[in-house]
Amino acid sequence: MEDLDLHKKKVLLRLDINSPIDPKTKKITNDNRLIKSLPTLRYLLSKKAAVAIIAHQGDTLDYHNLISLEEHAQYLTHFLETEVRYIDDVAGPTACEQVGMLQPGQIVILGNLRYLTEEVSTFEDDVPLKPRQMLRTYLVRRLAPLFDVYVNDAFSAAHRNAPSMVAFQQLLPGAAGILFFEEISALTKVMKDPARPSVFLLGGAKISDAFSMMEQVLKNGNADTILTCGVTGLVMLIAQGYELGETVRTFLVERSLDVFIDRAKNYWHQFSDRLFAPLDLAYEHEGFRKEELRDKLPEDVLFFDIGKETVRAYNAVLNTAGTIFVNGPAGMFEHAMWEYGTKKLWQSISHCKGYTVIGGGDTVNAAAKFVKNKSKIDYACTAGGAMVRFLSAVIPGDGIGKEVVPQAIRVLDLLEELSDDIEFSYRYFPWGSQYYIKHGRMMDENGLRKLEEFDAILLGAVGLPSLVPDHITLRELLIHIRQGFDQYINLRPIVLLDERDCPLKGKKVNDVDMIFVRENSEGEYSGIGGVFREGSSEEIVLQTAVFSRRKTQKVVNYAYQLAQKRKKQLTSVTKSNALNYSMVFWDKIFNECGESFPNIKTDQYHVDAMSMHMLRSPELFDVVVASNLFGDILTDLGSVIQGGIGYAAAANLNPERTYPSMFEPVHGSAPDIEGKGIANPVAMIWTVKLMLDFLGQGELAQLILKSIRQLATEGRKFLTPDCGGEATTQGTTDYLLQVIRKNIKDF
Ligand code: NAD
Ligand code: IPM
Ligand code: MN
Repeated sequence: MEDLDLHKKKVLLRLDINSPIDPKTKKITNDNRLIKSLPTLRYLLSKKAAVAIIAHQGDTLDYHNLISLEEHAQYLTHFLETEVRYIDDVAGPTACEQVGMLQPGQIVILGNLRYLTEEVSTFEDDVPLKPRQMLRTYLVRRLAPLFDVYVNDAFSAAHRNAPSMVAFQQLLPGAAGILFFEEISALTKVMKDPARPSVFLLGGAKISDAFSMMEQVLKNGNADTILTCGVTGLVMLIAQGYELGETVRTFLVERSLDVFIDRAKNYWHQFSDRLFAPLDLAYEHEGFRKEELRDKLPEDVLFFDIGKETVRAYNAVLNTAGTIFVNGPAGMFEHAMWEYGTKKLWQSISHCKGYTVIGGGDTVNAAAKFVKNKSKIDYACTAGGAMVRFLSAVIPGDGIGKEVVPQAIRVLDLLEELSDDIEFSYRYFPWGSQYYIKHGRMMDENGLRKLEEFDAILLGAVGLPSLVPDHITLRELLIHIRQGFDQYINLRPIVLLDERDCPLKGKKVNDVDMIFVRENSEGEYSGIGGVFREGSSEEIVLQTAVFSRRKTQKVVNYAYQLAQKRKKQLTSVTKSNALNYSMVFWDKIFNECGESFPNIKTDQYHVDAMSMHMLRSPELFDVVVASNLFGDILTDLGSVIQGGIGYAAAANLNPERTYPSMFEPVHGSAPDIEGKGIANPVAMIWTVKLMLDFLGQGELAQLILKSIRQLATEGRKFLTPDCGGEATTQGTTDYLLQVIRKNIKDF
């Protein structure tokens, strides 16, 4: 609040002064919340602001407390020694007229917000409004234009999804009040410096939440113990080597949640002394609940809850905890058969002496169902867990990079609008050829450091050879990031969506469905070399390819693991008949690594023959692994058999997540079509799909791919000219956005 200029401004102040009421006399019996709101009111008075307070009292189910705010006004008048006038109208003509006449230094309270239907909890729980819909409510349409600033000091109502809480700040400059700020600071302190031992109970089905939290608190040392359950628990067990069977694996793969297995392995490796996975699990057998120990689990079932042994072990840990953080239920607690684990853990949480913080919508629901004594929960931060936020760096770059990136952002904006629990924030970096002309470098001096904090980097394309030589542009930006952030995997799917796109005779959709794993940080792109005796007739130029055992192994193993999840088939591309050191070495590593994957069928081709086979029989290939240069060339070729470079997506991955990964389409800046509005945005949008996969948002990723497929099959005239359509860059995206909107309904 201190950051805003409030001097003589009209301030709309949301307070939580909902107070207990004596059922007989209908008088306020506890003035605690009124007192807590005084610091903000005093501050606003000191700024001579004109203040209108909005607040709620009681609710439909809490109807005996549903009274006007007249007495609240009297209390505040008494405490502040300044008149706080009550207006018995929320946003109608009287309220608006009174607000219009409000003078600096005056305070009024408008009528109980719960007089308005849109502010009763039915509209939060049963017919929830999206933030955008809230902008059209009576309350917001009427009041927002009358104020300069919105201040929210209703900390205890912070979990409420009502227009008075979350809509005004979209229209007015907004700030948190003093109470809000203090409470958040207190909560942050518990999060940062918890009473020990601190125990995290992480479960639920949203495992991206659980993993983000796990990563953070393991690394910063805030977690002494992490107890896992729910889907997270299953992933932890698989990573530990327990057999959970094909059904569970398929469940994870279909939701692209299998990416978490490697992360989990990593955590076991580094933090095994602080991690616990379930000891037993529950599943359905002939209509009944059965439990089994983790090393005797049956094949081909799904597990919906933890069992007695786990509950016993976890309870023992929870009972000695100084602080307990809970995110996500232990199983599918909504069903009676699977509520046991969640119920038992909650009962023990409500009896333990530790300080308890809960987060996440599901967690709060589970707590509501199983915890009788609600006051035992010290903090419920619904926003904390449920919402996943991603911060991306965006480098539009040059040429059509600048045209396709905004289209991809439109898609992400739509996903954010349509989904309640994901939010993207972006920071743009103007790096590219123009930047080079101005500053003599391709990115800021400490560019990599600036990018380090992001979850992901989105890049359009760079290169304008008429302005800056290509080797400078690309080596100092693109390759600099790939190598600097150890993005040693470049994933490039080649998928035919509609057979009309394939230039090869007689090929069907299923014939073209492969994915390239391109080595991306060394090989022919090492950048090592030099020019000797430059300009003389004896001039010699060296460009050295570098193949390290460590990186080659990592790349090849990555490809084997990917093949394991797909059709169990892997092709390696080399040129070992001519490149007698590097490629012979590659072949050797390929065969060595293969010993750990006896069930994977492998092929090896020289790159020349591979080009031929890809055109003649693309159906032979599923996962293909290749060195940096060969992977580069073959994926441009591959793009043509999937319908053109306008479809080709790519991801530069740092699988360990030590650094951000970068997502850029296969194509370049296409100076030949720059500015014509006909660049195909699909490759960039498909690239965003790969980004969502990597960020653990597999379902949203599938939604994008499904919609692109519909564009290629049913919406062909909405394709750009390179794919035989008649649409512009913008038009293609418009169509895709419509399709996504429709598809999200069955999502
Ligand atoms: P390019 O991929 O930019 O273009 C090749 C051809 O494909 C051109 O005819 C172009 O019009 C067409 N094309 C490419 N993308 C298209 C799209 N989305 N929609 C419709 N048509 C599309 O390759 P290039 O011409 O060799 O390179 C141009 C510049 O881009 C060079 O400076 C090059 O170094 C650079 N480049 C950058 C990247 C990158 O930043 N990731 C990748 C490749 C090339
Ligand atoms: C690609 C590009 C780059 C590469 C160039 C622009 C350096 O062709 O991403 O495919 O060769 O990796
Ligand atoms: Mn390329």
